[in-house]
Amino acid sequence: MQKLSLDEVKAGMILAKDVVLKDGRILLLKGFTIKPRYISKLKSYDVPYIYVEKDGVELEEFNEDRVYGDAFSSIKGIMECIRNDKKYDLVQLKETVYDMVGHILNDDMLFMTLTGIRDIDNYTFLHSVDVCIYSVITAKAMNLQYDEIHELAMAAILHDVGKCKIPISILNKPGKLTDEEFEIMKRHSLYGYEIARQMPGVSEKTARIISQHHEKWDGTGYPAGLKNYDIELGARIISIADVYDALTADRIYRKRFMPHEAAEYLMADNESQFDSEIMKTFINSIAIYPKDVVVLLNTGEVARVLPSKGMASLRPKVSVITKKDGPPVFTPYEIDLRENPTIFVTDIIS
Ligand SMILES: [Fe+2]
Repeated sequence: MQKLSLDEVKAGMILAKDVVLKDGRILLLKGFTIKPRYISKLKSYDVPYIYVEKDGVELEEFNEDRVYGDAFSSIKGIMECIRNDKKYDLVQLKETVYDMVGHILNDDMLFMTLTGIRDIDNYTFLHSVDVCIYSVITAKAMNLQYDEIHELAMAAILHDVGKCKIPISILNKPGKLTDEEFEIMKRHSLYGYEIARQMPGVSEKTARIISQHHEKWDGTGYPAGLKNYDIELGARIISIADVYDALTADRIYRKRFMPHEAAEYLMADNESQFDSEIMKTFINSIAIYPKDVVVLLNTGEVARVLPSKGMASLRPKVSVITKKDGPPVFTPYEIDLRENPTIFVTDIIS
């Protein structure tokens, strides 16, 4: 770790300690990558010096892992500050979300290979970033205006912020919740609204979208039991991304669904939970099996997924590289899963 004055700080360096302002607010969190515009921001806040990791490197033009990592550390830092009653500043989260939206508007497949990272301890934060990515891709396909997409992205990454007010014993309970515990868990939508309303620069509409992310198309959701178009458009998008991403994660009480099974679950919905038009756009816009993901087939073949998106990625073309417990295949061969209905993905290897 190095202590550097702001004149010595360069873009690309990694923060080794949180930057805390004189009033106790946390401005930037440990692990965050310094961007050029932050150096002047730090100066405007009269921050005299910061601590950076020794192996900080110059900022590359664009690094998908780094932007994803920044989004993860921003939402994790904010949720931990809220849970521990610490003050925080939203500047890092807003800038990171702004960055992600900009990159997805340029190329909607950019972050697809990074979604679906599963780490039990960090599940809520990784899930929040994935829901944000899927929501922005869907909003882009729906041709929403930039400001609306940005507002939606903030609501998506913050959609479960209310879970900071739910006791850890309920949040991490290894097993199904009792009816009483589930009633407490359901309060996270309204807690999320209250927390977002306290955030400077976060609109009332963003907070309202957060409060509605568990409403269902047929009126059986919570907290208000809103129906159809009474539910904010943003909440209708986020609820689809939320369920899709949650289904593809292992939970203590059930094994994860394969992505094509989760997509099929959404498509079978028949207008009970979701806005079917948005659901179709969602399925047609994301890559259900992103390119280069390595999968195990029911035939025992291990294959790399070839590029595709939307319905085509439900049963993509794959290139077989080895057999399970077998030697590598020296001349990889392709299988088109759409033309081979008896062959399907049984596991994701990486
Ligand atoms: Fe939620």
